[in-house]
Amino acid sequence: MLLEAPIYKEIFGALIIHEVQKVLKLDTETETVQSSVIQNIPREDIYKTLKELAIVVPLKNEKLQLLDGVLKAIPHKSPIIIVSGSDREAPNRYKLEMELVKHFYNLTRSRVVMVHQKDVGVAEAFKKLDYTEILDEDSNVRSGKGEGMIIGTMLAKAIGAKYVGFVDADNYIPGSVNEYVKDYAAGFLMSDSEYTMVRLSWRHKPKVSKRGLYFRKWGRVSEITNRFLNLLMAEQTGFETNIIVTGNAGEHAMSIKLADLMEFSTGYSIEPHQWTYLLEKVSLEGEHTNSFKDALEQGIEIFQIETLNPHIHEEKGQEHIKEMVKMSLATIYHSPLCTKSLRERIIRDMKLHRVIEDEKELEAPRVMPPIGNIDVQKWMQIVKKKSDTLLILEP
Ligand code: GDP
Ligand code: CO
Repeated sequence: MLLEAPIYKEIFGALIIHEVQKVLKLDTETETVQSSVIQNIPREDIYKTLKELAIVVPLKNEKLQLLDGVLKAIPHKSPIIIVSGSDREAPNRYKLEMELVKHFYNLTRSRVVMVHQKDVGVAEAFKKLDYTEILDEDSNVRSGKGEGMIIGTMLAKAIGAKYVGFVDADNYIPGSVNEYVKDYAAGFLMSDSEYTMVRLSWRHKPKVSKRGLYFRKWGRVSEITNRFLNLLMAEQTGFETNIIVTGNAGEHAMSIKLADLMEFSTGYSIEPHQWTYLLEKVSLEGEHTNSFKDALEQGIEIFQIETLNPHIHEEKGQEHIKEMVKMSLATIYHSPLCTKSLRERIIRDMKLHRVIEDEKELEAPRVMPPIGNIDVQKWMQIVKKKSDTLLILEP
């Protein structure tokens, strides 16, 4: 793969944020490229990394055709982990999904682990190992994508993955999913640190209109989130910046070493929370826990890659978008790094755009602590023993 080399970066404490890099050529071999502004990641290296990269697909009541395309597009060497929160009352969507996955496995022999988010064994394993923040009053795992991501990351660890990447199930272009996974691998190969995150950005998120496909520049929501995340940084450094362009990037990947340190937020605040959390961790003196020591020494690298493929996913309506802006900005608003003037600016902006009427509406999102301390082997043992939905398919 040829990418723009990571030339410009912002250093924020131990956080190294690379400027967005465009994909220039999707597939290249080992030839060396004589240019300091272009980075060559040979196909051979990408394929070696794919084996170590588990792909988590969070899924809730999506069209089966879309899931099917996504599964078929994930590179064969990457283990697939499906965490479904789909309905199990009639019509039992989870059952249909399982049938689809089994059929897919029989045809392709791709390694798949699948589980339902409300699996009794999963809930029991979290309870036994004292990670109760993911459970509701009835000791079931709560609904939500973040909760699903945690289960997915635990499963990725249990099968020995070195990296974990997330791919949504509602993607209309299977070929784009194939690219995302390779973009993740390319990011990991560029990193000098074991603590790495790769986030994807899109030039276009096309919309279907009466006149045909319209290639809209990527999202208004993400522009708002990015602007305030950049301001959050500027408030600390005194230098304004545009470096963050992936505030709402649902498509992202992390080394397991970094995933172990991350908090997981809920609702639509998961992705922006990853930013505020890391910005806080590297800047708040005296709050460095031992678990972060190595990461701070090595540095935490964040790559932002602009994909070649556009992103076309299920449109879930205006209310969805409003909620996304609200939760994204609530995360920034409640960050200990957020200054009074920035908070005022957020409120002013949100009122102007009629997202909220009162600042009390900006509740702090619920956050779940890092999973790094959970004994994953014990967790998996309990899941295997007690599960009522776990499906492990491997050749
Ligand atoms: P958007 O693309 O960020 O607007 O959000 P989506 O609604 O498309 O959600 C992203 C992905 O997470 C999709 O694949 C959803 O099916 C999935 N998802 C949403 N909610 C849940 C949930 O509660 N549990 C699980 N496991 N997946 C979810
Ligand atoms: Co979507």
